[in-house]
Amino acid sequence: MATVDDKKIIFSMVGLNKTIRQTNKQVLKNIYLSFFYGAKIGIIGLNGSGKSTLMKIIAGLDNQYEGQVVFSPGYTVGYLPQDPFLDPQKTVKEIVQEGTAEAVNALKEYEEINLKFGEPEYYEDPEKMDKLMARQGELQDIIDATDAWNLDSKL
Ligand SMILES: Nc1ncnc2c1ncn2[C@@H]1O[C@H](COP(=O)(O)OP(=O)(O)O)[C@@H](O)[C@H]1O
Ligand SMILES: [Mg+2]
Repeated sequence: MATVDDKKIIFSMVGLNKTIRQTNKQVLKNIYLSFFYGAKIGIIGLNGSGKSTLMKIIAGLDNQYEGQVVFSPGYTVGYLPQDPFLDPQKTVKEIVQEGTAEAVNALKEYEEINLKFGEPEYYEDPEKMDKLMARQGELQDIIDATDAWNLDSKL
């Protein structure tokens, strides 16, 4: 954890200018910033004032700028984008389904196990039956925990 005595600067932005080429609009003008180790920083400003542009530059996703962006040795940047990348080839339902993959798989396996209960290979072999029931119990927990029994209608 950082303490109040931690005055180590781990990031600096020095005299940064950014002009959007296509529109020739200067979005960031002569920006100077330094971040202390452990600091939690928010950027506030009106819509269109350049917050997202600034974040992309800090994250290294945009290198069309003048000035300097400096990380102290040993420090890197992580970036959680505001807008997730969505595959344009997929439908909305398919995208949502990706986020429920664990539940979908559990439901599928649960149904497969139900079918196996009717096969002699399983019902004539107590050991296999025990294993099936144990697995079905695990799957049931997953399905209960993710409230997935009505997943199809929810999707
Ligand atoms: N790709 C782009 N093409 C043209 N203008 C852009 C582009 N990206 C950002 N801008 C302009 O740069 C300014 C800053 O945008 P942005 O960084 O998204 O602001 P904020 O996140 O603070 O709302 C806005 O005026 C916007 O219109
Ligand atoms: Mg923004």
